[in-house]
Amino acid sequence: MSARGEEEVILEALLDLARAARGRAYAPYSNFFVGAAVSTDQGVFAGANVENASYGLAICAERVAAAGAVASGARAIDAIAVTSSSPTPTPPCGACRQFLYEFSPEMTVVSESRNGDRKLWRLSDLLLDGFGPDDLAGRDQA
Ligand code: THU
Repeated sequence: MSARGEEEVILEALLDLARAARGRAYAPYSNFFVGAAVSTDQGVFAGANVENASYGLAICAERVAAAGAVASGARAIDAIAVTSSSPTPTPPCGACRQFLYEFSPEMTVVSESRNGDRKLWRLSDLLLDGFGPDDLAGRDQA
């Protein structure tokens, strides 16, 4: 199978996982349920948004999925799939773009709306000149 074909198969599998994860979202305050799944150097991981009575503490599905993957040993994320109840495919928020950038600026981002409409991006197009580990060079200099 071509590399392109392989990526399409992976993205379909990630979208399936993201849809299932969305069913486990804890979003009683916004009622906006989001699921995400990442493909990494250590396999695939899913997550959903988790809210709190202290509203500002909500964590997006993308960061839950990525943090779960990294805490399980992953260090590179090749692709992330996001599904929400929005009528249009929702891109990751700015905080998630920065969080994900750490684990592969060139990762593929696919988002699916509730009707099945999809949008595809490269993370580096969503976050131009993102801040990454290399930008900490010289941090031990006074
Ligand atoms: N949310 C996500 O999980 N991912 C996004 O890309 C945007 C927003 C969550 C955060 C909050 O729980 C709810 O959606 C409404 O903002």
